[in-house]
Amino acid sequence: MSDSKKLTTAAGAPVVDNQNVMTAGPRGPQLLQDVWFLEKLSHFNREVIPERRMHAKGSGAYGTFTVTHDITRFTCARIFSEVGKKTELFARFTTVAGERGAADAERDIRGFAVKFYTDEGNWDLVGNNTPVFFLRDPLKFPDLNHAVKRDPRTNMRSAKNNWDFWTSLPEALHQITITMSERGIPASYRHMNGYGSHTFSFINAQKERFWVKFHFKTQQGIQCLTDAEAETLIGKDRESHQRDLYESIERGEWPRWTLFVQVMPEADANQVAYNPFDLTKVWSHRDYPLIEVGVMELNRNPENFHAEVEQSAFNPANVVPGIGFSPDKMLQGRLFAYGDAQRYRLGVNHHQIPVNAPRCPFHSYHRDGQMRVDGNHGGILGYEPNDQGQWAQQPAYAEPPLAIQGAAGHWDHRVDDDYYSQPGALFRLMSPSQQQALFDNTARSLGGAPKAIQLRHIANCLKADPAYGKGVAKALGIAEGEIA
Ligand code: HEM
Repeated sequence: MSDSKKLTTAAGAPVVDNQNVMTAGPRGPQLLQDVWFLEKLSHFNREVIPERRMHAKGSGAYGTFTVTHDITRFTCARIFSEVGKKTELFARFTTVAGERGAADAERDIRGFAVKFYTDEGNWDLVGNNTPVFFLRDPLKFPDLNHAVKRDPRTNMRSAKNNWDFWTSLPEALHQITITMSERGIPASYRHMNGYGSHTFSFINAQKERFWVKFHFKTQQGIQCLTDAEAETLIGKDRESHQRDLYESIERGEWPRWTLFVQVMPEADANQVAYNPFDLTKVWSHRDYPLIEVGVMELNRNPENFHAEVEQSAFNPANVVPGIGFSPDKMLQGRLFAYGDAQRYRLGVNHHQIPVNAPRCPFHSYHRDGQMRVDGNHGGILGYEPNDQGQWAQQPAYAEPPLAIQGAAGHWDHRVDDDYYSQPGALFRLMSPSQQQALFDNTARSLGGAPKAIQLRHIANCLKADPAYGKGVAKALGIAEGEIA
């Protein structure tokens, strides 16, 4: 038998018996000196790691990004440096509210996270399948999750909590409209688009800044499930998204997405009619049309789910030269949240886990910490400045200064802003049957909430479009005379 098939302890000693614990005589009590038993049970007790606070259920795959169109006028990011250039990547798709064992085919937004292993470090684009979000202030993010996850007393998901919170935030209506629309339950991860959602920045070789939004359009076509189809599917298969992605890649049917960007010159931000850093709004496609960039293909399944998918760590703070942040305060909040969550979930050295490690040379000077396994920089000096020129900072990569202004304060983003025009426009883009699906999906979801909350939602919808509010009211069986 080859050595790789022989069982040893973690310390390498042969395991003599993996069927019977050591006892004093055939009927006797177990002996504490059966150290293989001790090791096996204590490792088992520690197999489960904390799940992600949201986006806990997910599927991942490796792939390649290939540049098809030149955008070097906007960015010097090496990933986009020439047409034909290929960059390895790892993607993870998720549902958001459900726990690690939740069914896939739920009405929920989907995470769309991609880690590009670029020549100048990892670029993580941690987006969703929707171009907007429920919130525009990161202070409300824990509340959102407490509202959509389980009730603290009943331990059940609660339509009341969910809709009580959503309907109290006018800025959430755009995302609610998408979530309740016929696109609210993707048929699979292959059949949905992905969006960076936030506004990011591009910096070109001349150190000019542009604002940018990222859009991945599925080449498989958008396909979605109705509530009834999802219900039947979940009854048969709770892992429908995982199965679809895994099996299609195994079959050699590699899913692909075309990457587009919307680009806004830096100075335009002060001139457009809306706040381009508001995550609850989309940019006009007429003013900022989609520019094609390249193709993302997923072509390899992970060998081990825990090692590669569960331990993957995506972080919006991971950007590379040529790609930067923006004043979007949701994005700013996320720059803190992910690394912090991952230090708790995976440990301070999670960047050494192979799926997370850059594929280019890297010389970060953090040292020590639990689970340091890479030699810890050996005897290299651990301070800077030093007389060896070690750990030299790289000022050539500095971004151009960004002009910001304003007095510090807790500015109320609901004052003087318009949260109804865009959901109203989206509603009017829908065909009558799509509008009816929106009414019916909303009624099924909102039906379990108290009437006062239903009326609050109807009032919000009426502001977006009278037909939207009336349609939801009718689907809920609420008479027109009762609505505002
Ligand atoms: C996961 C926080 C908004 C997309 C997570 C995680 C945290 C978090 C702590 C778990 C990270 C981990 O354990 O690895 C936040 C906060 C937000 C926010 C504080 C708002 C201030 C958003 C938005 C998007 C998004 C707006 C999309 C545009 C994702 C995705 C994942 C995730 C896709 C899963 C990443 C993976 O597959 O591992 N978020 N999030 N989040 N978030 Fe957010």
